[in-house]
Amino acid sequence: MNPVDYSSFRRKLNDWYADQGRDLPWRRNFEPYQIWISEIMLQQTTVVAVIPYFERFLGRFPTVADLAAADESEVLRLWEGLGYYSRARNLHRAAKVIVEQYSGLFPTELDTLQSLPGVGRYTAGAIASFAFDQRAPIVEANTLRLYSRLIGYAGDPRSRDGQERLWAFAEDILPRKGAGRLNQALMELGATVCSPREPDCESCPVHAHCQAFRDGTQATIPLPKPKTVITEMTEVSIAVRTGSKYLLRKRTSNERWAGLWDFVRFEIEHAAAAIDTAFIVGAVQDRTGLSVIIGPQIAEFKHGVTRYRITLKCFVADRVQGRLKANEEWQWVQPEKFDEYPLSVTARQFAERLKQFPLVDHATSKTGKMKKSRLEH
Ligand code: ADE
Repeated sequence: MNPVDYSSFRRKLNDWYADQGRDLPWRRNFEPYQIWISEIMLQQTTVVAVIPYFERFLGRFPTVADLAAADESEVLRLWEGLGYYSRARNLHRAAKVIVEQYSGLFPTELDTLQSLPGVGRYTAGAIASFAFDQRAPIVEANTLRLYSRLIGYAGDPRSRDGQERLWAFAEDILPRKGAGRLNQALMELGATVCSPREPDCESCPVHAHCQAFRDGTQATIPLPKPKTVITEMTEVSIAVRTGSKYLLRKRTSNERWAGLWDFVRFEIEHAAAAIDTAFIVGAVQDRTGLSVIIGPQIAEFKHGVTRYRITLKCFVADRVQGRLKANEEWQWVQPEKFDEYPLSVTARQFAERLKQFPLVDHATSKTGKMKKSRLEH
């Protein structure tokens, strides 16, 4: 785009945004805290999915000080279902940094913002421009697509050259005043009109400035990401019971879903058609130190996580004897208390199923209450 056209481009885009921009909860004020929360939630997650989480999260943690003072477990509980939980752990860590190092006041400098856990160049630019109206560029999924088309960039937009060109363009088009609003409008256009497939170029307010539209290349720009290969995986989850409680374990920092709680869970060979009960008993013993009797499979769930498609087979089991291994965080939890623990999506589904499942002693097939005295010492 020729720089002489920038002001005409901005005017058309701003008029369109005034008319067509969605009224989204995080656009109603200029609070950096709220903008930050929304931008972190919106990474890899749609606007529709984010809205209820955003409102609940702010209801519980209205200020950065409230967030900093919370237990990580509670933060994860409110994040449950949004996925990519490192986002929530980083939010919590960054809130503590803001309170401890910046007296609870949001930094305004791009570099300082970017030094916060989980805040990259895009998020820093979004906070600096939306909250403080700084002339800070942004490139994320929506604007990456829009800018690639506007400048007709046919190379890989994620390459070094692509990134340099797009970030430079993102900065060039910003006005000295009103950069935040223009960034919102750019993102909105990318999200709603300049869509990945079949962009609605006819109703685009700036198609006259779009190189891809002029060349008819909007269907092939931007170059798509290489397709991720999906790997099938089978896991088993074992709800080990003693009396009226089931065993939960806090997942450790080197695992997927770190900080969330889970039933005993491990991978089994995907191809295995029949479940090898002896193998499961051995694996539960290795992980927990407990010897158990495996009961029936009571549920099966499918769930996609990054490049995996997981089939989770859920069993109940009774603790017979043994002591829980040290160096792990364990809790024996009654089903009514499951709600207090952050769980992965499939663990939550399993937990809900367990709430309805009668407490049966699988050693004798009698009800748990009858065997309680034996099982609980
Ligand atoms: N995606 C990322 N940030 C967004 C925002 N502020 N509004 C709408 N969609 C977004």
